Amino acid sequence: MAWTRVCRADEVAEGAAIRIARQNPIAIFHVGGEFFATDDTCTHAKFSLADGYIEGDEVVCALHEARFCLRTGKVLAPPASVALRTYPVRIESGEVFVDLD
Ligand code: FES
Repeated sequence: MAWTRVCRADEVAEGAAIRIARQNPIAIFHVGGEFFATDDTCTHAKFSLADGYIEGDEVVCALHEARFCLRTGKVLAPPASVALRTYPVRIESGEVFVDLD
């Protein structure tokens, strides 16, 4: 486990997502009181999923509308065919930590 602090929980509004800039950017989603972390770049092409449409625990890429499950990373609609990498998230003292291992 390599828990890394990525942002404050209150930086991610309910029903929204933010992009965490790093060599391999990740997206933090806040949905229904839960936080999810995934790779930010869509597996179909180079587009930020933090800029996608959030529908329940799913994100729809805004570029070509591939759909992914935020819990598992599974592809739910094409044109993407490769699952999205997901990461465990922990909230501690109002801070968001992600296990980036
Ligand atoms: S870049 Fe996301 S569906 Fe094409």
